[in-house]
Amino acid sequence: MQKQTLTKLQNNLLIWYEKNGRKELPWRNLQSSLCDKRLYHIERSYGVYISEIMLQQTQVKSVLEKFYFPFLEKFPNLISIANADEDKLLKAWQGLGYYSRARNLKKAAMACMQKFNGSLPKNIKDLKSLSGIGAYTAGAIACFGYDEKVSFVDGNIKRVLCRLFALESPNMKELELKAEKILNLNNAFDHNQALLDIGALICLPKNPKCGICPIYEFCLGKFNTELYPKVKKISYENLNLNLVLFEFQKKFSIQKSSKKLYKGLYNFPFFKDDEFNLNENMKPIADFKHGYTKFKINVKVYHQILDKEDKSYEFKSFKELDNIPISILSLKALKKVKNLL
Ligand code: ADE
Repeated sequence: MQKQTLTKLQNNLLIWYEKNGRKELPWRNLQSSLCDKRLYHIERSYGVYISEIMLQQTQVKSVLEKFYFPFLEKFPNLISIANADEDKLLKAWQGLGYYSRARNLKKAAMACMQKFNGSLPKNIKDLKSLSGIGAYTAGAIACFGYDEKVSFVDGNIKRVLCRLFALESPNMKELELKAEKILNLNNAFDHNQALLDIGALICLPKNPKCGICPIYEFCLGKFNTELYPKVKKISYENLNLNLVLFEFQKKFSIQKSSKKLYKGLYNFPFFKDDEFNLNENMKPIADFKHGYTKFKINVKVYHQILDKEDKSYEFKSFKELDNIPISILSLKALKKVKNLL
């Protein structure tokens, strides 16, 4: 791309962002004159870090409306995370899913205490050394938290770059080079936020809004957007799970998982079909579907009253269940059957 063309592309991006970007998002205004007063005391790099980790797998709307402010109220800085009790941290993360993110927060915060004077480092290599921080998140923290002039690529930016340069299946290195080539060194912050917004609002996977795209004139893939990038088909696996609420003296069986899948989280006991010896008169009291990573899970919920306590489980009342971190799968089951019990 010629220098003149590049300058025009960069200017178009900034002009568009000024008028149409999501500039009011709270994590984009930390410690600025537009900072939400609930966040005055939040260090910028920390507030950006939390937003980026939440946004890795959760929609902006839900992070904004349900999770960002309550979490920062409970954990306003890295020290509070480093010292946090794992159960409390997972509880505050409840609903966001992908709990390894919360466990990595603690590992990363502890490493910052030990190695980086209690703050997030500025440089990409140090940031990437922290648990849960890959190339994208390191770049986003450096740029949005510290105004470093760096580029980075997430799923949205990838789609924009693939279309802009008509790339079907580029590897990460190629994409990172393209992002670096078009980076606007005069305003990396707005430039990168603009790319994220174009990816989220205009350059959509299906039916992109090319008619209002500020970089349409430079886009090599605009007439065949469906080709760029080539999408991999995800192969889902069906799984049947039978989840049993064993009840003893108005309390329900629950177990803390030590398996990788739900590590640290509480679940009602569940069994695959082949591990489940169905008592003849046991009928499911509810069923629902649940998606988890590559699994499409059909869940049947059973209820059984015990006449003696089964020591392989902990037993908790409904009220006690409110205070422990529970997997989304078990929460869904609880919501379905609470009125029936
Ligand atoms: N997704 C990842 N980072 C984001 C940001 N800073 N703003 C909006 N969406 C994002």
